[in-house]
Amino acid sequence: MTTPNASTVTPLRPEDPSDIAFQIGRRLDGAQAPLTHSMMKASNFHHALIGTSGVGKTFTIRKMAIEFASQGVTQFILDTQGDYSFAEFSSNHDMKGVRVNEIKFGYGPGTAGINPFAIHSDDQYGGFHHAVIGVLETLRLFNPSIGSRQKTQLRRLITRTYERKGIVMEDPRSWRLEPPSMRDLLITIDDEIKAVKSRSGTDIFDEIEEARKKAQRAAFRIKNEAGSTEDQQALEKEIEGHKASVMEAFEKMLDAELQTGEKLPSLSGSLNRLEAIHDMIEGAIISGLFDGENISAKRGAINVLDLTSLNQADQQPIFYLLLEKTFHSAVRTCKNLNPKIPDMMFGFDEVKLFTALADSPLDPINRFFTEGRKYGLGSLCGLQHPKQLTNEMRSSIGTIMLLPVAKEKIADVKRLWNIPEEQMSRLRAKSDAFYGFGNDSFVPIKLFG
Ligand SMILES: Nc1ncnc2c1ncn2[C@@H]1O[C@H](COP(=O)(O)OP(=O)(O)O)[C@@H](O)[C@H]1O
Ligand SMILES: [Mg+2]
Repeated sequence: MTTPNASTVTPLRPEDPSDIAFQIGRRLDGAQAPLTHSMMKASNFHHALIGTSGVGKTFTIRKMAIEFASQGVTQFILDTQGDYSFAEFSSNHDMKGVRVNEIKFGYGPGTAGINPFAIHSDDQYGGFHHAVIGVLETLRLFNPSIGSRQKTQLRRLITRTYERKGIVMEDPRSWRLEPPSMRDLLITIDDEIKAVKSRSGTDIFDEIEEARKKAQRAAFRIKNEAGSTEDQQALEKEIEGHKASVMEAFEKMLDAELQTGEKLPSLSGSLNRLEAIHDMIEGAIISGLFDGENISAKRGAINVLDLTSLNQADQQPIFYLLLEKTFHSAVRTCKNLNPKIPDMMFGFDEVKLFTALADSPLDPINRFFTEGRKYGLGSLCGLQHPKQLTNEMRSSIGTIMLLPVAKEKIADVKRLWNIPEEQMSRLRAKSDAFYGFGNDSFVPIKLFG
C-alpha cells in the first residue's frame, strides 16, 4: 500500500522520558514499522476517530483511554450507551493496572448529581459571581425560552437564597459554607410568593399593569401611525389618562398601607412571573438530576460518567455542565500554560449527541476544543463522518484516525484529506485506520498491531 507521502516517520521511542506516548499501531506501508503516538509532538491533545458503525471506534477509544490513563492522564468518558462499563473494559482489554471509576447519573438518590450552587472558594475574585451565573445557565438549559426579566428576577432570588445560608458576595470567607440547593431556591420563591399574596392589592397591581399596557400601545401608535394632529393629540391625552390611573392605583395602595400597615407590593414582585419561575425550578427538581451525591473523580483513572439512565433531553444539560465545570477547574488549577503533555482528557463517543447545544463559539464544547490545549485538556471523540464536527472542533483536532467509513462518505474523506478512494475502501474494519497527525500526511496503520 502506498500513501500520498510516506516520508514522515514518527520515531518509535519518545525522545523525552516525560512524554506521554504509546504504540498506536504498525504501518501498513513501507517497512511496516511500529508507529508511536506522542503527545510531546502533537499540536494539541484532541483526537477524532471517524468511522461507520461497527468498525472499532469504541474499542479503540477504550484502548487509547487505557494507554493515556496508565501514563497518568486522568480520563473522563461520557457513556451514553453502556460501552464503557468496567465489565466492557476488563473483558475486552488488558487494563495495565488502570482503574475504572463508574459514576452513575440518574434520577433520585444513590446516583450522582450536580449542585450548580457550589462555589469555587479558591476563585477569590469571581467565585460567587460565577456560581450565580452557573445556576442561571443551568436553568436556562432546562428552559431555553427564559426571558430577560425572568432572568433578572431569578438572579435576585438566587442571591437571596445564598444570603439565607449566610453566603454573600462581599465576603469570600462565607463562600466556604455549605451551599444551598435547588430545593432551597424553591423555598425562597415559595416564601416570596406567600409574601406577595399576603399583601392586599394584587388586584391594584393588575390595574397598574393594564394602564401600563394601554399607555404603551398608545405611545406605539403615536410613533408608528401617521394620523392627523388631532389623532395624535387624542392619543397623548389618553396616555395622560393612563398615567393618572397608575398614580391613583399607587395612592390607593399607599392608603391601604397606611391604614393596615401592609407593605406596598414591589413592581418586580409580579406574582405571575414568580409562579412561572416556581414551576421551572420545580421541574428541575423533579428531574432528580441535582439531588445526587457529588461526583468524585479519581486522578489517573478512567472516570466513566454513566449517562445511560438519563433520557436524552437530560443528557445534554448534564454534559454541558460537566464540560463547563471541567473547563473552569482546568483554567483555575492549571499551573503552567500550554503544557507539553495533557493532564485530563474527555471521551465523547458519538459526538453528535454532545454538539446539539453548541450554537456559539463560546459554548463549553467549542471552548474546550479551541482553548483546551492551553490548559492541558484533550479529547477522544468518536464520530461516524467528518461533518459531525463543528467548525471549531475540526480546526482544533490534532490527531485524526480514519477507520472505514460508509461508502457515501468516502468522497467527503477524499475532499477533506486527499486520501484516494481506492485506499480508503481497502481498510479492514476492526483492524485498520488512516492515521493523521498534525500536518503530516495520513499513513495507513494496523491499529495496535
Ligand atoms: N481491533 C479489534 N480487535 C478485536 N475486536 C474488535 C476490534 N475492534 C472492534 N472490535 C469488536 O468489534 C465490535 C464493534 O466494535 P466497536 O468498537 O463497538 O465499533 P464502533 O464503535 O465503531 O461501532 C465490538 O464487538 C468490538 O469488541
Ligand atoms: Mg461505538
